[in-house]
Amino acid sequence: MSSLKSYLASHAKVVDTALDRFLPPATRKPATIHKAMRYSLFAGGKRLRPILCLAAAEACEGKIEAAVPLACAVECIHTYSLIHDDLPAMDNDDYRRGRLTNHKVFGDGMAVLAGDGLLTMAFEILGHAETWPRYDMRALVRELAHAAGSLKLIAGQVADLEGEGRRITEAQLRFIHECKTGALLTTSIRLGGMSANAPASELKALTRFGHALGLAFQVIDDILDVTQTSEKLGKSAGKDVAAKKATYPAILGLAGAKAEARRLTAEAHAALEVFGSRGDRLRELANHLLERDF
Ligand code: IPE
Ligand code: IPE
Ligand code: MG
Ligand code: MG
Ligand code: MG
Repeated sequence: MSSLKSYLASHAKVVDTALDRFLPPATRKPATIHKAMRYSLFAGGKRLRPILCLAAAEACEGKIEAAVPLACAVECIHTYSLIHDDLPAMDNDDYRRGRLTNHKVFGDGMAVLAGDGLLTMAFEILGHAETWPRYDMRALVRELAHAAGSLKLIAGQVADLEGEGRRITEAQLRFIHECKTGALLTTSIRLGGMSANAPASELKALTRFGHALGLAFQVIDDILDVTQTSEKLGKSAGKDVAAKKATYPAILGLAGAKAEARRLTAEAHAALEVFGSRGDRLRELANHLLERDF
């Protein structure tokens, strides 16, 4: 197995090259919107969701080429959600991925539209995916739309906004995190399995893995907001306390939140049992997310 570092770099490059092909050029009229969409998409995101999608395809003995359009579609949705998340009407952030947020450069109206453009583009890209008897295009569309929709990602963002300044229970916080972050992350992994025509037993295992990892990912994001600098994160640190957000460190304390992230990562590992050594890369990625400091 290649080193994790070279794996992350080579797979991110595959995704970047494909995204560049799928997106209209920055000069294509109306140029402002295509510039704005590309500004955030190519700002240096970690590409963790698309990499997990490709890694899940590999774990199911599929070819990464079949997973690439699905990985790109997920990254477009993720990037749209960040552009909107940063708007003054939501988290009001000035920095993202190490540069000024989209609305700071292009204005609020154009940032809303750049998000809309990426969300829509995701489904156009999805339309390029190959399908299998087990997973036809209808299944892929439903999968992605459900994760991004008002029962999952948007539901989480709604509850996140409504939770500001309020005391909520751990169960309510878990709902927020599973919806706003866990659902799309789980779907990235499931789509990778689907692109490899994975049998139901493997898709079920990937789903369990995604649920645990997706929640762990947002718990860690909450922890990093408290423990890291803005420079390191490429986005403003310490914002959650300032905005009175409901977070894991706020409810469980820092040590409690770290223990929960470790517990969830162990749960993610346990889900991969059916894969044997084919699951090694996914195990390694889960550990990497737990130990990350960016
Ligand atoms: C940030 O996601 C938003 C969350 C859901 C926590 P990432 O930490 O994956 O951000 P990028 O894509 O690398 O910028
Ligand atoms: C973002 O959660 C979740 C989505 C964009 C769907 P956060 O608000 O915690 O993400 P950051 O910290 O701004 O990246
Ligand atoms: Mg937010
Ligand atoms: Mg935010
Ligand atoms: Mg955060």
